[in-house]
Amino acid sequence: MSRRRLLELAGLAGAALLGPVWVTKVEPRWVDWVRQEAVMPKLPRRLDGLRVLHLSDIHASGAVPLPWVRSVIEQINRDPPDVAVITGDLVTEDRSYMAGVAAELARIRAKHGVFSILGNHDYWTDGPALSRCLEAAGVHHLRNESTWVGGPGGLRLIGIDDHWTGNDDLDRALAGVGEHEARLLLMHSPDLAYPASRANIPIALCGHTHGGQVRLPWYGALIVPSEHGFQAGWYDVNGTRMYVNRGLGTLDLKVRLHCRPEVHELTLRSA
Ligand SMILES: [Fe+2]
Repeated sequence: MSRRRLLELAGLAGAALLGPVWVTKVEPRWVDWVRQEAVMPKLPRRLDGLRVLHLSDIHASGAVPLPWVRSVIEQINRDPPDVAVITGDLVTEDRSYMAGVAAELARIRAKHGVFSILGNHDYWTDGPALSRCLEAAGVHHLRNESTWVGGPGGLRLIGIDDHWTGNDDLDRALAGVGEHEARLLLMHSPDLAYPASRANIPIALCGHTHGGQVRLPWYGALIVPSEHGFQAGWYDVNGTRMYVNRGLGTLDLKVRLHCRPEVHELTLRSA
């Protein structure tokens, strides 16, 4: 056998051995820190430069251990954001992780607080119990409601409850919210982009798709749980700018390929 042939065989054997390690052990823990800016219409000058940390789909479980979640949060806290938001799927059908993930999220040292909405897997676990865990830990759970960041007249943070499990109520979430206000919408599923655009929401943050978890070069995700085919990153939906976060964790299928876990930090500009 020639030396070249031997090297080719060794390369193939290496890829076969390393491939499974890469997709199960390396890439799912190789966090991509995505830092971007966006102009938020009507944002008061005093909040120009507000740093919004956006996490999604943590899925704390045997597949996504809490010590690893803590290590990511410790890294976040080296340069704390102004406000932190989590767009759902904190757990994956295992109630024993609810209090733990709430406690980890509460560690984020964001000066305006930590806010979360729930996702479909949270409801399939126990939505009301998880909500109680979040509130007990000091994480604000937004359930079809809004709150001010930076006091009245600052940034309106609006949280819609989960769409897949039928808990969403955008009209209720927008009660008392005016179009003259700076409005940032949190939702789990990107498929709420169309109702959000009809409500003239300027920016929406979401997750749910995990970017597909497995993406092929030049093709994208093999499967995404979105009726409208939303995968990852920015979309402009009839004037609503929507960011789909690839998520931090994975489902029980613990693989990621060309789809690293994500921590998204969005700096909002007043103009
Ligand atoms: Fe998820």
